[in-house]
Amino acid sequence: MSTSTDHGRPDPEATSSAASRDGRPVSDRGDTVCVIGAGASGLTAIKNLREHGFGVDCYERETGVGGAWNWRHDRSPVYASTHLLSSKPFTQFPDFPMPDSWPDYPHHSQLLSYFERYADHFDLRSHIWFGTEVIRVEPAEGDRWDVTTRSTGGYGPERTSRYAAVLIANGHNWSPKLPRYEGLEQFRGEIMHASSYKDPAQLRGKRVLVVGAGNTGCDIAVEAAQQASRCWHSSRRGYWYAPKYVFGRRRPGQRRAAGAAGAVADAAVALPLDAAVDRR
Ligand SMILES: Cc1cc2nc3c(=O)[nH]c(=O)nc-3n(C[C@H](O)[C@H](O)[C@H](O)COP(=O)(O)OP(=O)(O)OC[C@H]3O[C@@H](n4cnc5c(N)ncnc54)[C@H](O)[C@@H]3O)c2cc1C
Ligand SMILES: NC(=O)c1ccc[n+]([C@@H]2O[C@H](COP(=O)([O-])OP(=O)(O)OC[C@H]3O[C@@H](n4cnc5c(N)ncnc54)[C@H](OP(=O)(O)O)[C@@H]3O)[C@@H](O)[C@H]2O)c1
Repeated sequence: MSTSTDHGRPDPEATSSAASRDGRPVSDRGDTVCVIGAGASGLTAIKNLREHGFGVDCYERETGVGGAWNWRHDRSPVYASTHLLSSKPFTQFPDFPMPDSWPDYPHHSQLLSYFERYADHFDLRSHIWFGTEVIRVEPAEGDRWDVTTRSTGGYGPERTSRYAAVLIANGHNWSPKLPRYEGLEQFRGEIMHASSYKDPAQLRGKRVLVVGAGNTGCDIAVEAAQQASRCWHSSRRGYWYAPKYVFGRRRPGQRRAAGAAGAVADAAVALPLDAAVDRR
């Protein structure tokens, strides 16, 4: 298993030397594919590339797999109450089902455990350089790519390796966007982005305005309604909200379609759902 201390040292047998366009030394990794990120997308990319005979070097800036679901890392956007919104059969990899004993919409800690077991089951960790951040990807001669890495946090030297292809699986929930509103600087209360929300205790006894009605905004508004002394929820447009269950069944699109029978079952539930949807 690779660790943060052996990052950036690919298998020497598959490596030869080259130079970047500005003369920096480059390890030429031949036909190896570089995967950036070991979340859900990166893990399944490693597995499938390996199954099709490719060599793979995956770089992961954190010290474990799971990406957004790895609540052990400070950057993880999940909060204590996060559960899957997409149902178990709709979310799991078809060749690695989640346990039957798990709920229809598992807790985030179960998701992390699922991705860890997926990595172990398909022996993916030996292809991952943990604690290693990709800081540059540049085109190189012959339609190839120079990938520059360094230890997460900026310690140690930069290393550049040349790959036949790069698969970017770095996720899209890592950079908080805090809108600027006119007059905001006059507000004397606390302003928090959802990325730093972890636990409803943070809201206890406060007067809370939740801005935004994506899944995060809705979850936090529900918890604020229970914990805060007063809660307002602001959205700039209308949304459709669908329950996770309709008449005791997972909502349509949340069940694995089992051929024609699945499609018929979906249609049977879809009709009453139209009536059950609540526009707020
Ligand atoms: C609170 C929350 C709940 C969600 N619920 C659901 C749900 O119910 N169902 C669903 O399908 N989706 C859900 N999602 C969407 C979520 O994005 C996906 O489930 C999944 O995590 C996406 O996986 P990914 O591998 O594409 O990205 P990520 O999980 O974000 O993984 C990206 C990985 O790339 C690494 N990385 C990033 N930049 C670099 C770099 N420069 N160098 C090296 N490594 C890097 C990161 O450390 C991370 O490990 C939810 C998201 C959030 C935030
Ligand atoms: N499994 C779960 O339970 C769960 C929980 C949380 C998040 N998630 C997932 O995580 C991802 C991110 O979800 P998210 O809710 O954090 O983000 P999001 O879906 O992008 O929602 C952002 C919300 O903020 C609003 N907004 C953005 N800029 C604004 C501005 N300047 N002024 C006012 N409102 C503004 C948006 O309005 P507009 O819609 O008008 O742009 C939207 O309501 C999604 O994939 C989501 O499904 C899942």
